[in-house]
Amino acid sequence: MIDERFSNMSIFFHWTHAIIIIFLVCWGWWMVDLPKGSERGFAFSLHKSVGMVAYLLLLMRSVWRFFHQPPLSVVDSFYFKRVSKVVHLCLYLLLFMVPIAGYLSASFTKYTMKFFGFSLPKLGWLDSGINEFFSQTHALLAWTLTGLVVVHVLGAIIHSAAIKRMFF
Ligand code: HEM
Ligand code: HEM
Repeated sequence: MIDERFSNMSIFFHWTHAIIIIFLVCWGWWMVDLPKGSERGFAFSLHKSVGMVAYLLLLMRSVWRFFHQPPLSVVDSFYFKRVSKVVHLCLYLLLFMVPIAGYLSASFTKYTMKFFGFSLPKLGWLDSGINEFFSQTHALLAWTLTGLVVVHVLGAIIHSAAIKRMFF
């Protein structure tokens, strides 16, 4: 059924995901310059665990989205509608790829993979070359996601009626 506003579940998914992503980008940006030591170790572990939460949220959100159609767009312009669809699709793709690249980057290091203290399997072995490749891919994708979020937020501000129905 097509409704005027977003469902409570979609609103919940959208804002929890948004807060987590903004946290991960700021935290990731800050942590990479920390000197080697326990603070850096803690910062990386927290980033990885919260990053996995973001991935789980994306999976749940995608399943929900598959079965629940969003309300009709508030945008009149045909081209703007198209652009917002493409931006949303790219956001979903990046929200999927960024954590995977992060997981792969962390898999090719000597450090254990933990989810809030629980050990997880790694998908690789100790290899600084592969680690560097996925590390750069992760950073590139994460900053592309950040740029797209800025475009997305500007689009939402231009169509402020859209923001209202993402809240109420
Ligand atoms: C959507 C989720 C995620 C976002 C938005 C995100 C964002 C970021 C950002 C902005 C950086 C700093 C990049 C730089 O400028 O060098 C970073 C670094 C890092 N992230 Fe993530 N991250 C996410 C998920 C993950 C996950 C799931 C893991 C691993 C399980 C992970 C592991 C790392 C590691 C090891 C670094 C440091 C060096 C590197 O780039 O490999 N991240 N992340
Ligand atoms: C990291 C931050 C964010 C991410 C990853 C994100 C992601 C998304 C995605 C994927 C959608 C498409 C939903 C769907 O149709 O399934 C969406 C919709 C939307 N977002 Fe965000 N968002 C973020 C931040 C924000 C912020 C800060 C605002 C408000 C200023 C905002 C306003 C909206 C609105 C209004 C819609 C609905 C657009 C419509 O009417 O179709 N988002 N967002």
